[in-house]
Amino acid sequence: MADGGDEYKREESVTLLVIVSLAALSLLSLIAAFAYYCYITRKVSRRLHSLHLPKRSSSPPPPPARAPPRQQQQGKDSPSSNSASDGAGATAAAMSVVVAGERGVQVFGYRQLHAATGGFGRAHMVGQGSFGAVYRGVLPDGRKVAVKLMDRPGKQGEEEFEMEVELLSRLRSPYLLGLIGHCSEGGHRLLVYEFMANGGLQEHLYPNRGSCGGISKLDWDTRMRIALEAAKGLEYLHERVNPPVIHRDFKSSNILLDKDFHARVSDFGLAKLGSDRAGGHVSTRVLGTQGYVAPEYALTGHLTTKSDVYSYGVVLLELLTGRVPVDMKRPPGEGVLVNWALPMLTDREKVVRILDPALEGQYSLKDAVQVAAIAAMCVQPEADYRPLMADVVQSLVPLVKNRSNQKASNPNVQSSKPLD
Ligand SMILES: Nc1ncnc2c1ncn2[C@@H]1O[C@H](COP(=O)(O)OP(=O)(O)OP(=O)(O)O)[C@@H](O)[C@H]1O
Ligand SMILES: [Mg+2]
Repeated sequence: MADGGDEYKREESVTLLVIVSLAALSLLSLIAAFAYYCYITRKVSRRLHSLHLPKRSSSPPPPPARAPPRQQQQGKDSPSSNSASDGAGATAAAMSVVVAGERGVQVFGYRQLHAATGGFGRAHMVGQGSFGAVYRGVLPDGRKVAVKLMDRPGKQGEEEFEMEVELLSRLRSPYLLGLIGHCSEGGHRLLVYEFMANGGLQEHLYPNRGSCGGISKLDWDTRMRIALEAAKGLEYLHERVNPPVIHRDFKSSNILLDKDFHARVSDFGLAKLGSDRAGGHVSTRVLGTQGYVAPEYALTGHLTTKSDVYSYGVVLLELLTGRVPVDMKRPPGEGVLVNWALPMLTDREKVVRILDPALEGQYSLKDAVQVAAIAAMCVQPEADYRPLMADVVQSLVPLVKNRSNQKASNPNVQSSKPLD
């Protein structure tokens, strides 16, 4: 009887021991989980702090080392809700790149640039955009530059200009036109870029529209290489920078060509300057350029990287067809390039009909069909179904010939990744 009682007591204490151990284990797990939670929370908040991610509140984020705070920007930068959020995205991108490393640009005096461009004389003018004229110049060290004299009226604060310069100067890729320097002096604002000897892509696709006359001399291989290099420029902005930068004004005149017809994407970041200048109105700069704007952005103002993918598709169509995005002088139904081309892009028989006659049939039909299919995916109305720029790059790589000819690394820029 006593034995039975002892055994019962032993069992009771073993059970108690097990229960206490289990409770202790649970408590320990809880403490460990809580400690891990605290660790993660601190890590995330430290990271957010180091990125200075701007909140969409009225108080601006603390300024980076060289850029003063943009106090008025939040008010001015909101002609529409989308542009405000884009602004935040672009600013955040600038900030995160600030974290990535110090890589400043030169600060020029107005007199220096005046002298370099022959006093901004007509003979030195290479183009005129919506921000002002672009002049060819030579720096005292012999470097050839393009100087953009930003002359549109309006109160663009120097602080905001500085901030944009930060963004432009810190995004570096062999496929983006890098900023060499800037000048902000006595009401003048100038941006100094590397000179691209062959100017904008549009000048070569539509030479008859300019002063030189004639038909395009761009052959198929060159067009494909330009398509790939431009795609890599956008891929960098969308997928190598965190948070992504949306170009917002991707078009053939913003693809510049060097002396060997290698391409670089330009004017990323400038669309934002345009929106600030609009003084609260929705300007053409906010909406990009007619014929290149994605339908959902035009209709709802909702801007994503897929809006750039659409614009890229339009440029791909220009390269394929040799037609401008909008030309109302064409016969009915042919005025808007996307509307005219889209139904034919996925039909093997019809693709031949839309190809640029200037190519004189010097292309592989198989390749042309593939490029047309890529263009069709990029310009489809449903943004979610458009490919990522990384997908576009992957699809184009096998179609680009003369790959040994790809450009050598430019010593002025940091390669975002090895050249193919
Ligand atoms: N870095 C450069 N090197 C050589 N030429 C350039 C350079 N930048 C611009 N250009 C020339 O100046 C022209 C005008 O360029 P800009 O960027 O000012 O206007 P855009 O792109 O034609 O139009 P928008 O201002 O509406 O974007 C280009 O088409 C090109 O011919
Ligand atoms: Mg431009």
